[in-house]
Amino acid sequence: MGSRLVGYGSYLPERVMTNQDFEKIMDTSDEWIVQRTGMRERHFARDDETVVDMATIAAKRALENAKLKIDDIDLVICASTSPELDFPSVAVQVLGKLGATKNIPAYDVRGACTGFIYALHCARAFFTAGMHERILIIGAEKMSRFIDWSDRSTAVLFGDGAGAMIFERSTSSYSGIIDTVVMSDGREFDMLHGSPDHHIIMNGPETYKKAVELMPNAAQYIMDHAGITADNVDWIIPHQANLRIITSGAARLGFPLEKILVTVDKHANTSAASGVLAIAYAFDNGILKHGQLVLYPAFGSGLTWGAALIRV
Ligand code: ACO
Repeated sequence: MGSRLVGYGSYLPERVMTNQDFEKIMDTSDEWIVQRTGMRERHFARDDETVVDMATIAAKRALENAKLKIDDIDLVICASTSPELDFPSVAVQVLGKLGATKNIPAYDVRGACTGFIYALHCARAFFTAGMHERILIIGAEKMSRFIDWSDRSTAVLFGDGAGAMIFERSTSSYSGIIDTVVMSDGREFDMLHGSPDHHIIMNGPETYKKAVELMPNAAQYIMDHAGITADNVDWIIPHQANLRIITSGAARLGFPLEKILVTVDKHANTSAASGVLAIAYAFDNGILKHGQLVLYPAFGSGLTWGAALIRV
């Protein structure tokens, strides 16, 4: 038992915040931000625009893309670190907003920037067990909620947005979510976490070192497990944390730069939404073609890390 991708969708808020906009409000420069992160701009949600709003639009677009209705879905999983409400889940609120008339199971996973991989991991297990027919997976974040405007080292790094993918059960184990691996290490909590007043606390240099070690490790693990090499992969679409992390990780794995999809310049780090937003961007711009093999590694607070191998 396996799965196949039947639809995708994404949403980016209208408001664009450029590096030059940051220059006007804090002691930073476009040059510093581009050199250290590769970021040039990011989207910020309106004050009244929630994670649920963004998740709902991305999910609606994925349903339209798949030519399905919400009642055709039999499980919704949403990966988000930044929901405004502690309960209920974003996933169940999306069902309400989309007008589901059936009792569809729905829940959130919280794996920080690795959240979407954790959601894919759950979906793969359900398909393998034959438990669900069609799963809607959403990654949605309003990271701008967490910005500490007095901390220039974290304020410039994040953006908002949402992406969604719909997978259907299939008899082929060579399509859809082919393989996943997820890991965590709670001993490294101090490196990157939220604070009780909803700010990002991060040791940047230590986080950087761990990211360039653990993302390639997860990617290599999953390629070894699947019995493939970098030559067999069409695209590496990593969590978009930082351009330097992406390129040094890809170099460690022996991936040529032409195979790496980068959206961090346009979206910055949108945590659990970053990989799925990048996949949607690649489809929309004719970069990614159906049938291609995508390797998607991620890393985030926890620490958490992992990778997914998806034939789109
Ligand atoms: N503009 C200008 N100068 C800045 C800025 C800024 N926005 N931020 C920090 N600086 C300064 C610092 O104050 C410091 O100045 P000093 O030398 O006078 O003290 C100097 O730049 C160097 O600071 P470092 O923190 O050592 O800079 P570094 O080269 O490590 O780059 C960065 C910082 C970009 C945050 C890097 O550490 C990094 O990318 N870390 C990983 C971050 C990350 O990806 N986090 C998320 C991953 S997990 C997830 O996605 C949730």
